[in-house]
Amino acid sequence: MTTVLGIETSCDETGVALVRDGELLADVTATSMDEYARFGGIIPEIASRAHLESMVPTLSAALEKANVSLSEVDAIAVTAGPGLIGSLTVGVSAAKALSLALGKPIYGANHILGHLAVDELVDGPFPEHFVGLVVSGGHSSILDVHDITGDVHEMGGTIDDAAGEAFDKVGRILGLPYPGGVHIDRVSREEGDRTAIRFPRGLEGGKNKAKHPYDFSFSGLKTAVARYVEGLETRGEDIPVANIAAGFQEAIDDTLSEKSLNACEAVGADTLVVGGGFSANSRLRALLAERAAKRGITVRIPPIRYCTDNGAMIAALGYKLVTAGVAPSPLDMTVDTNMDLEQPVMA
Ligand code: KG4
Ligand code: ZN
Repeated sequence: MTTVLGIETSCDETGVALVRDGELLADVTATSMDEYARFGGIIPEIASRAHLESMVPTLSAALEKANVSLSEVDAIAVTAGPGLIGSLTVGVSAAKALSLALGKPIYGANHILGHLAVDELVDGPFPEHFVGLVVSGGHSSILDVHDITGDVHEMGGTIDDAAGEAFDKVGRILGLPYPGGVHIDRVSREEGDRTAIRFPRGLEGGKNKAKHPYDFSFSGLKTAVARYVEGLETRGEDIPVANIAAGFQEAIDDTLSEKSLNACEAVGADTLVVGGGFSANSRLRALLAERAAKRGITVRIPPIRYCTDNGAMIAALGYKLVTAGVAPSPLDMTVDTNMDLEQPVMA
């Protein structure tokens, strides 16, 4: 039996989970998100302090729920990056203390690859080769994956704003509550006409298209939405919030789905695994399902609770690293706010 404890504190969620022999035993999350609505963005210092307060209670709750004692834990996996430096440091410090006290190895795991690894807990073993699309508040990346514990190639990513970041910024422009992503999704679905306004897709034509087949650029789109709203305001016209949201969402989801499926065909992979907080987006899920079916590609996306940040994703990646025989991280490892997406574990 191999039991791995996973700890995630890269942003505002304190997540602790236990995976035993590839099976999720418990996954407990505490969040400080409610504290940021009035600021319109995460305040790193508040997030770090919240992790400090939540760490021990969240760990205790996960152990109790899994009915596992600390002495039964064989290895500890913890997010080492990418993420906020203070938040990461709280999780890594806790994991180091546990590693030292229990005499068990520690694995400084990559948060982005964790967003993909969690899918195995839900949808079963990965195929030998797949393309990963990770879309979150901080990342939009396309990865060619032969082995998530050691053979990952970054095909492309955002050259400016990540998808979730663009949604949160446009949410603010449209006067929606923070974080805007989920609200844009909801108003678009319930009241929006996605064909009413066509916003530009980034890197859409000519030289840019050829040079960046798997990259994303969403900041021009965000500016286009801002200009559109400003124009209406200057003319004293009503702002059709739901139609703007739906048109904006369509531009992003069109690009994400098209480029990730193109990437699958380019490398000969017949499976796309999707993860990250933004993969909760309902239009992205619908477009991927529709377009992948036409191209004979299988899409795997975990349920929404495993798309946003959680401990299960780190326990899942940790379990893969342990069973693959990958060397653990040294006890004096540092955190890395910009951890390379091709590096599954901190050396
Ligand atoms: O992966 P995640 O929980 O945290 C990061 O690692 O960044 O992703 C959070 C991001 C936020 O930008 C949030 O607005 C976005 O995911 N998000 C959504 C939806 N749910 C969460 N964006 C669009 N549609 C949604 N339904
Ligand atoms: Zn994340």
